[in-house]
Amino acid sequence: MDIETAIRSRKSIRGFTSEEVPREVLEEILDLACRAPSTMNTQPWEFVVITGKVLRKIAAENVRKLRSGIMIHPEHVITGWPNNGIFRKRQVEVAKRIFQLMGIPREDKEKRAAWMERGFRFFDAPAAIIILTDRALTEAGPLMDIGAVIQTICLAALEHGLGTCIEDQGVMYPENIRAGVNIPESKRIIISIAIGYPDGDFPANQLESPRESIEKIVSWCGFR
Ligand SMILES: Cc1cc2nc3c(=O)[nH]c(=O)nc-3n(C[C@H](O)[C@H](O)[C@H](O)COP(=O)(O)O)c2cc1C
Repeated sequence: MDIETAIRSRKSIRGFTSEEVPREVLEEILDLACRAPSTMNTQPWEFVVITGKVLRKIAAENVRKLRSGIMIHPEHVITGWPNNGIFRKRQVEVAKRIFQLMGIPREDKEKRAAWMERGFRFFDAPAAIIILTDRALTEAGPLMDIGAVIQTICLAALEHGLGTCIEDQGVMYPENIRAGVNIPESKRIIISIAIGYPDGDFPANQLESPRESIEKIVSWCGFR
């Protein structure tokens, strides 16, 4: 797959088939993705790849806590944005489009809650990649580098016919991941990526999320 096709066709996949992803494929993806750049080549990332019963148990426990109203308490900085303005507008727009595709009316709180739970269940993906960093680094310091590696993972996955969704929701109750997997306290859990074979019939997978045109966001200087 050429680079432009990969970049243009990557999108968040939120519905997967139950087909397992072979470990060797995930190894190949991570090996390639680690070619991502990082500040002074510090490579401030580590991965835990989870599948099967271990993943389902974490997913179930995430949903249980969400339903019980237990406050989320991620180990990473959560992006905040003002309640009005362009960032909120873009967020609402993408949510609206997802709900439209899924046939979830705005006022249907039950269906909206069920949709939210999907995210906490890793969208029922057969595997999830959890990205860790070292607590020796500042909280926000490694985030640019991790941004580069997660995008590279998502692009590399396409070559294998895999879909991905980068998601905060999976790591909102980090102790659930720690309970299922041996992660030293010296490591901070940053984000998860749900990964699997896209379910072609899942409506939300049709979403083409909009982008601002570059006329609005680029200033050109010094050109003739
Ligand atoms: C850091 C980060 C966290 C995200 N967390 C979630 C999440 O928790 N749940 C979700 O459904 N999508 C999540 N996404 C996916 C974004 O909603 C998605 O990338 C955005 O709407 C653009 O759509 P696209 O990926 O299809 O191009 C996240 C993306 C990023 C980069």
